[in-house]
Amino acid sequence: MPFPLLEEHRMTQQTARDVAQKEIAPHASEWSHSGTFPKSAIQKLAKLGLMGVCVPEEYGGSGLDHFSYILALEEIAVACASTAVIMSVNNSLVCEPLKLFGSETQKKTFLTPLAQGKKLGCFCLSEPNAGSDAGNQQTVAVKKGDRYLLSGTKNFITNGPQADFAIVFAVTDKTQKKKSVSAFIVDKHQKGVEVGKVEKKMGIQASGCCQLIFNETEVPIQNLLGSEGEGYKIALRTLDGGRIGIGAQAVGIARAAFEAASSYAKERHQFGKPIAEFQAIQWILADMATQIEAARLLVHQAAYLNDQGRPFTKEAAMAKLFASETAMKVTTDAVQVYGGYGYSKEYPVERFFRDAKITEIYEGTSEIQRLVIAAQVLK
Ligand code: CAA
Repeated sequence: MPFPLLEEHRMTQQTARDVAQKEIAPHASEWSHSGTFPKSAIQKLAKLGLMGVCVPEEYGGSGLDHFSYILALEEIAVACASTAVIMSVNNSLVCEPLKLFGSETQKKTFLTPLAQGKKLGCFCLSEPNAGSDAGNQQTVAVKKGDRYLLSGTKNFITNGPQADFAIVFAVTDKTQKKKSVSAFIVDKHQKGVEVGKVEKKMGIQASGCCQLIFNETEVPIQNLLGSEGEGYKIALRTLDGGRIGIGAQAVGIARAAFEAASSYAKERHQFGKPIAEFQAIQWILADMATQIEAARLLVHQAAYLNDQGRPFTKEAAMAKLFASETAMKVTTDAVQVYGGYGYSKEYPVERFFRDAKITEIYEGTSEIQRLVIAAQVLK
């Protein structure tokens, strides 16, 4: 199914492409190698309304659809995968559940500054023993008068070191397991929240990732997102949308690798001619281009269904699975096209290769995406 772009889609795509190529791409390698959080890039995205793309304007967002969002995200990911994941967590994993499940007060207090990019959000689901098995939450929320006390450890929290607000999942009754998971909005700067180990990662080093430790953190009852016991469904619904974003990020990384490899192939001479004139290289480039287009179509399909209000769990998982595996394949082949230079940090493809790997892992590993798809097709 082709997805013709409307005028607003083209404008958002072009705006994102301009900022990505002019303001982000020139610094991406340096940010990544030095592990510098791209604060200036996030501020620029905020000014353009890209930190709350699908949030209604009355809550500080751009009021655009999910299709616009993934078009913009692909452009940012072409320039810098780290900046893309920071943007995607804020949009997909924090603004989106606040928009869908938040009360009016929660939208005014938390969603608005997050969508404006004045504050940054993170999503605290994973734990030391609740990764793929996200239902095995050990973080507890104990109700005490007009507040809950949250205690537990959250792992691999993207944006964790820099975030202002966190959506934290915790159980109110351990015996009820996933049925008693609830979602809470927590001010990360408050007493009882500690930044634990900061991860040293293989790729996307410009984005922050850490453990967050909650130690009897006081959360007012009005910060319960949705109702008590609804948290696991909120998490899975949120991840459905998030997975489309990671699919778009993966397409962006793959596109960056393809663009680099194809121009290198035209410049690099061996055996008296550009290596692009050898069929061995042409076939690699042809496969790359084909896989990227297929991945993009799956991402577009999932975003389109989401915008139509139709079920999209299966399509989001397919988009994420196919796009992330495409990113890994395309970036691996891009290193091969560059030969020895591809293995050097002087050229960008080794960064694309390292950045691509995480798209097969976070927001549900490829194995989990296959489980989700299988459950849907066997229904
Ligand atoms: N939307 C809403 N509700 C859903 C749902 C969805 N997509 N999928 C299932 N549910 C509902 C079910 O209907 C069920 O409800 P009932 O109890 O009323 O029947 C309930 O949720 C539980 O469903 P399951 O028993 O099928 O779920 P499960 O516990 O077997 O788990 C899973 C399924 C697919 C393995 C899930 O745990 C999963 O997706 N795991 C991966 C976790 C993940 O992606 N983590 C990413 C962390 S965030 C991150 O990575 C951010 C970052 O760094 C960038």
